[in-house]
Amino acid sequence: MTSPDFDQQIQDAFGSPALAQIFRESFDEQAQPGVHGFSFVPTRGLAQIADLLGSGHPVGTLLDAGCGWGGIGLWLAERLRCNLIGIDSSAAAIAHATTISPPTGIRAGFQVGSFTATGLADTQVDAVVAVDAFHFAPDPDAAAAELLRVVRPGGRLVLTLWSTKTGPDRFTRDYPETLAAAGWSIDTVEEHPEWLAAQLRLYRAAIARGTAETDPAVLRLQGEGAAVTPLISSGRRLLIAASRPGMPA
Ligand SMILES: C[S@@+](CC[C@H](N)C(=O)[O-])C[C@H]1O[C@@H](n2cnc3c(N)ncnc32)[C@H](O)[C@@H]1O
Repeated sequence: MTSPDFDQQIQDAFGSPALAQIFRESFDEQAQPGVHGFSFVPTRGLAQIADLLGSGHPVGTLLDAGCGWGGIGLWLAERLRCNLIGIDSSAAAIAHATTISPPTGIRAGFQVGSFTATGLADTQVDAVVAVDAFHFAPDPDAAAAELLRVVRPGGRLVLTLWSTKTGPDRFTRDYPETLAAAGWSIDTVEEHPEWLAAQLRLYRAAIARGTAETDPAVLRLQGEGAAVTPLISSGRRLLIAASRPGMPA
């Protein structure tokens, strides 16, 4: 399985009314266009992520790594009342993200960067999130080290991804082990079957629209659903929370 073409995916998915409708009807009735559509964590899950990021030390600046068009990071930043830096390797993603006005009182900046070269300074941010993105890092060990470098001691990381017994390395890898080897302290590994059920429901709804469908984002969802359902339906949908050891300066 090769990495998808994210520039094209963003062009197709951003602002697609058909995709927004299908997310709301079949994934999560609270799904918001501009937030949902490019990953598979329902609104209730985003609230859980915000709680984990905000527990402990206050978050002044959040890094959203693999931020896509930025809607998820902005949602989390509004909830946490913190500033946001979003990085993504897709120039199209960053171009879209910079068109979104941040919520009042929130400063947000988006820049092209990768998991292994964020372009940020040591300890620049207070917390890091990567929603359905970290598993695309071509070198997860280097990515785990880079995210550790840019977060301050005591700062938290939350990743969401899939874990399967078979398939490409990005699904079968032991990510808690990867993070621990890079120096992260693992706080919790939670399984969220309800997120997986919502994702599979979404794929079924897209496929049910049949071959007459013309919206490219929904067509892509149909293809992805057919390819990925056999792999992930017997796997685990994971949220991993970890902290950089040490106390804030
Ligand atoms: C499924 S999307 C999720 C986007 C966003 N987190 C969200 O929840 O809407 C995965 C994102 O990871 C980004 N990505 C893939 N490989 C990357 C890398 N090596 N470094 C940074 N971002 C990457 C893609 O461009 C894409 O925007």
